[in-house]
Amino acid sequence: MSEPALTLRSPSARRRASRHRPAPETHDEVLVIDYGGQYSQLIARRIRELGVFSQLISHRAPIEEILSRRPRGLILSGGPASVYAEGAPELDLRLLELGAPILGICYGMQLLMHELGGHVQQAAAGEFGRAQLTVTNPGTLLSGMPDQQTCWMSHRDAVFQPPAGFRALASSPASPVAAVEDPRRQIYGIQFHPEVVHTPCGQQIISRFLDEICGCERTWSAASIVEHEVARIREKVGEGRAICGLSGGVDSSVAALLVHRAIGDQLTCVFVDHGLMRKDEGEQVVRTFRDVFEVPLIAVNAEDRFLRRLAGVREPEDKRKAIGEEFIRVFEEQARMLSGGGQEVEFLVQGTLYSDVIESGGRPGASTIKSHHNVGGLPDDLEFELIEPLRNLFKDEVRAVGLELGLPERLVWRQPFPGPGLAIRIVGAEATKERLHLLREADHILQEEVRAAGLYRELWQSFCVLPDIRTVGVQGDERTYGNVIVIRAVTSDDAMTADWARLPHELLEKIASRMMGELREVNRVVLDITSKPPGTIEWE
Ligand code: XMP
Repeated sequence: MSEPALTLRSPSARRRASRHRPAPETHDEVLVIDYGGQYSQLIARRIRELGVFSQLISHRAPIEEILSRRPRGLILSGGPASVYAEGAPELDLRLLELGAPILGICYGMQLLMHELGGHVQQAAAGEFGRAQLTVTNPGTLLSGMPDQQTCWMSHRDAVFQPPAGFRALASSPASPVAAVEDPRRQIYGIQFHPEVVHTPCGQQIISRFLDEICGCERTWSAASIVEHEVARIREKVGEGRAICGLSGGVDSSVAALLVHRAIGDQLTCVFVDHGLMRKDEGEQVVRTFRDVFEVPLIAVNAEDRFLRRLAGVREPEDKRKAIGEEFIRVFEEQARMLSGGGQEVEFLVQGTLYSDVIESGGRPGASTIKSHHNVGGLPDDLEFELIEPLRNLFKDEVRAVGLELGLPERLVWRQPFPGPGLAIRIVGAEATKERLHLLREADHILQEEVRAAGLYRELWQSFCVLPDIRTVGVQGDERTYGNVIVIRAVTSDDAMTADWARLPHELLEKIASRMMGELREVNRVVLDITSKPPGTIEWE
C-alpha cells in the first residue's frame, strides 16, 4: 500500500480477535465437537433455532477449553473417517467425565460405541440418503416418536452391538443399532442425521436432547443477541470512536446498526459508492442509515475515480484487484480525515459472520474448505481494533437481528452482491459507464420481475451478465447488431454449491420481452443453466 496506514492510539489497540468466544454468560450452551462432518454447522444452527446457544469446536481443541465453557451438553458430530482408519479422530475419554450429557451423531456415535467396547464394523452395504427407521424401544431419546419413520443416513460402518450398559432403541435396514442410550451415564447415540430436513423427526430429537436430557433453558433469541452485543460493545468501546464501512449488504448493515445502538454517534459509517452498484442501491443505503436511523454517515461518490481506475482493465482478477485497492484508498482517506478532525478512530466495525470464522479457520478433518473472495474487504495491516458483533452468528440469525433492530425487510433479505459489483458481470470487456448503465437497467428489470413473481427470497442470487459479444437481430424490419443479456438465477444454501433456478417460462418470457422492448441496445436474452460445480455463480 502506498499510503501510510492509520495511526494507532496505543500498541494495545491492535486487532484482538479470538477464534471462538465463550457463550454469553446468561445462556446455556451446547457444544458441537466437530469431527469434520458435512453437516456439523447445521447441527449448531438447529440447536440455536431451538433457542439454545451452540458453537462448533474442533475435536482437537484442548479439553480445558471445553471445560472452561461449561457446556450443558455435548454433541459429537459426524465425520468422513472410519473408526478403524489410521489417523481417524479419537475420543478423548475425559469428555465423558465432564458431567454433561453426550449425543453422538453418525461417526460421533460409532466413536462412542467403539471406545466403550461395542462392536462397530463395515456393513455389507452403506446407507446413503433416506432410510426407514424402526423404533423398537424409544427410551428417553425417542420417546413420543412414531415407531416407523424416515431418516437421513450417510455411512458405511455401522454399530452391530452396543457396549454393556447401553440399550438399542432403533434399527434400519443397514444399521442393526441405529440409536442407543445409556441414561445412567447420560450417553446417547444416533446413526442418522437429525439436523437435515430429510429426517422429519430430527428437530424433535434434538429438542428432547436439549430439554429432557440436558435441561437447557431456551434463552437465545434475536432480542437477547441484541441486548448482549450492545452491552459488550459498550464495554469494549467506552468513550472511543468507531468507523464502519457500509456496503448496503445485510451483514455490514446489521453490524452498523448494532454498534450504533450501543454507542450512538461515536460511530461513523462510510459508504463508498463505487458506481458499480445495482440501480438505486446507493440512495437506499443513504436514506435508510442517514435519514431513518440517523447514523452519522459519510457517503462518498467515487464513481469517476473507480471508472478511471477501471479504464482498459479487462481481466477479472485485474478488475478485482483494481477495485479492491481503490476501495481501500478511499476508505483510508475518509478515516484519516475523521481522525484528522481531532477525534482519533480506534475501532473498525466488520460484519464477519460465524460461517466466515469457521471457513477461514479451516476445519480439521473436513474435506472441503471454501476459498475466500475477500476483495473489497480491508487489508490486515489497517491498525484498528476490530469490533465484530456478528462473529457468533449464522446468516439467518443476522437477518433476525436486523429485523429486531428495525431494518427494512428489503435490506434484510437482499441477495448477496459481490464487492466488485457489476464490474465483474461485464465479461471480457472493460467496465465503462455505458456498459454499466445497460447492465444496471437490465438487472433492474430482472429484479423487478422476480420480486413481482414472489420468487426473490427463494433465490440465492438473480442477476444479469453482459458478455462482450454482439448478435444479429431484426427489430421493426431492420437489421440490428446488439448486445446479449444473460439471465443467471441460482438456488443455494451457502454459495459453495448452487443449482440453476427453474424460473417459470412465463416469467422468463416477460423479462426477456421487457429487456428487448425497453433497452434499445439489447436484441437477445439467454438463460444460464449451469450448476456449481462445474460453473461458478458469477461469470468472472
Ligand atoms: P462464485 O462465483 O465463486 O461466487 O461461485 C460465490 C459467491 O461469492 C460472490 N463473489 C464475490 N463476492 N467479492 C465478493 O465480495 C468477489 O470478488 C466475489 N466473487 C464472487 C458471488 O456473488 C457469490 O455469492
